[in-house]
Amino acid sequence: MQRLSTVHPRLFSLAAAFLTSDLPSPRSFLVSSASQERTRLTFSLSVPAAKSLWVCKKIWKSAVRGELDMGGEGKPTVVIMFPGLQYLIDHDAIESRFTILKLWEADDRMAFFKENADKIKGLVGNASIGASAEVIDALPNLEIVSMHSVGIDKVDLVKCGERGIVVTNTPDVLTDETADFALALVLATMRRVCAADRYVREGLWPLKGDYPLSHKVSGKRFGIVGLGRIGSAIAKRAEGFGCSISYYARSKKSEYAYHFYDSVLELAKNSDILVLSCALTKETTHIVNRDVLNALGPDGTLVNIARGPVVDEPELVKALVEGRLGAAGLDVFEHEPQVPKELLSMDNVVLQPHAASATWETRRVMADLVIRNLEAHFSGKPLLTPVT
Ligand code: DGY
Repeated sequence: MQRLSTVHPRLFSLAAAFLTSDLPSPRSFLVSSASQERTRLTFSLSVPAAKSLWVCKKIWKSAVRGELDMGGEGKPTVVIMFPGLQYLIDHDAIESRFTILKLWEADDRMAFFKENADKIKGLVGNASIGASAEVIDALPNLEIVSMHSVGIDKVDLVKCGERGIVVTNTPDVLTDETADFALALVLATMRRVCAADRYVREGLWPLKGDYPLSHKVSGKRFGIVGLGRIGSAIAKRAEGFGCSISYYARSKKSEYAYHFYDSVLELAKNSDILVLSCALTKETTHIVNRDVLNALGPDGTLVNIARGPVVDEPELVKALVEGRLGAAGLDVFEHEPQVPKELLSMDNVVLQPHAASATWETRRVMADLVIRNLEAHFSGKPLLTPVT
């Protein structure tokens, strides 16, 4: 009972008030006679009993529907789509509030969905796997998609809208981490930090002498594609390096004094460093194409912490192989976790496994937010970070 009152305080206090409330006085209906006394007694006893039964039935039905924590079968079933974040899986709240299914433990995913179709009410996705149309179609009782990512490109939002499925993500909590990482990639790529590290480890320094010169970052022309939360945090950091900042976005942002270009091509022509931090949408798919890469040029550096398909990857590989692009720092790829093999041997390329937000600190707060959104949804409270 104590758990119920914590979990569902509103419903609990309503139920408690209802059960203990003064009943409408039966006196007005009854006249005093021996048989009527009996009637009154029966009435006075049966009405609270009926009320109790009614409340119990309500609570039971809610529990069966998975709306309350009854510590067992009544818990809403949530499928986690991706392995890897033990903190999320081991989270006390996850264990006690939800029945968790782990998709990656299934041999046959569609068979898994078929088997659990009616049970699953919540889904937790991330940047690599979310709620596709196929998955949504397989889950007739899905109510919420709680993404462990700020990006929602792995969710079929149209389908969710049609089905009335709510979608949440994890904005803000990863902004600093991702912006820090963008700058780390700019520095690592232009200063050849990873290649020089390999040079030292491989014992080449005493044999071949000093490592070749790299390129200065401070004071360069810094272009940003997408000036949202993360893009503007990147801009702030780049300002600290004395860089001049320009950006491309769907529209000019009057709150920033940075130079606005209404085309990515124009931005690339006027940048030494081009950092991609936009959402992946139909409009931004392959927004960095051959022309943009040529405009950035042999002295230019491309950094992508957005999504792989924002760049036409085969064109990127060609531009690097042919020396039409100076360097690239890539955290994301078109077909993750596959990385074009041509890039593996290039010292002017830094490769990362989609790790911009991947720190203990940030992934924990992301996981907390995922769980809080699920809890809010299943207890009828406002979502913390709704997308839809
Ligand atoms: C996101 O949150 O979208 C990042 O790509 C990391 O998961």
